[in-house]
Amino acid sequence: MQSSSKTPTGLHVAAIMDGNGRWATARGLPRTAGHRAGVEAIRRVAEAAPDLGVGALTLFAFSADNWRRPPAEVAGLMSLLRRYLRHETGRLARTGTRLTVIGRRDRLPRGLPDALARAEAETAGGERLHLRIAVDYSARDAILAAAAAGIPASREAFGRSLSGGVPDVDLLIRSGGEKRLSDFLLWECAYAELHFSDRMWPDFGPEDLAAALRDFSGRERRFGGLVPAAA
Ligand code: FPP
Repeated sequence: MQSSSKTPTGLHVAAIMDGNGRWATARGLPRTAGHRAGVEAIRRVAEAAPDLGVGALTLFAFSADNWRRPPAEVAGLMSLLRRYLRHETGRLARTGTRLTVIGRRDRLPRGLPDALARAEAETAGGERLHLRIAVDYSARDAILAAAAAGIPASREAFGRSLSGGVPDVDLLIRSGGEKRLSDFLLWECAYAELHFSDRMWPDFGPEDLAAALRDFSGRERRFGGLVPAAA
């Protein structure tokens, strides 16, 4: 196990992986089959991301509100996460990918918090890509928890406490045709560029990530200031 890790350079891209259920339903498959295909998409996108200039990739796998879904779907998602950790941790470590998980852990099924901690420890030395998976995550709850912990109310200190030092999101992608934020990284996306794709997440691939990044590179980021030429 490697013990040190530094923040990778590169863009911070976040993705709301929407459309798994519709992808499956359109094929006459159970929704869980869509989530399974969604994991394949995660693998493809995470492998391609560093070469496209992405240093941190934060993916929304399970929201704090997803507990409202049918128990069988929730159980299916938790078991996919368990399988992902079991099968992918070695490959993540070998490819320089540091895996961390954001969100609550105290409501996860027995054994899963320990499995998450083990995967985080085994991949801690990864410097090529920081892959963050959001599980039982709510941005509003995360902000409330940081406030309740008495974090100093400066933007910088508060932001650091939310993100563990990962820079703010540069580009937020949502697949599946919907256009909303769904309580994802609300603080960290203060100046994120937004990219909405009609592609269902299981069909999302490196070429879609590349297209989103091309779109991003054409944006003019002013952070509330003026266009440099007009300043
Ligand atoms: C939204 O699509 C997607 C989710 C709620 C789960 C996303 C999870 C994965 C991609 C796989 C699990 C992740 C890991 C890391 C093992 P939806 O089901 O709401 O789709 P719909 O809008 O078409 O119904």
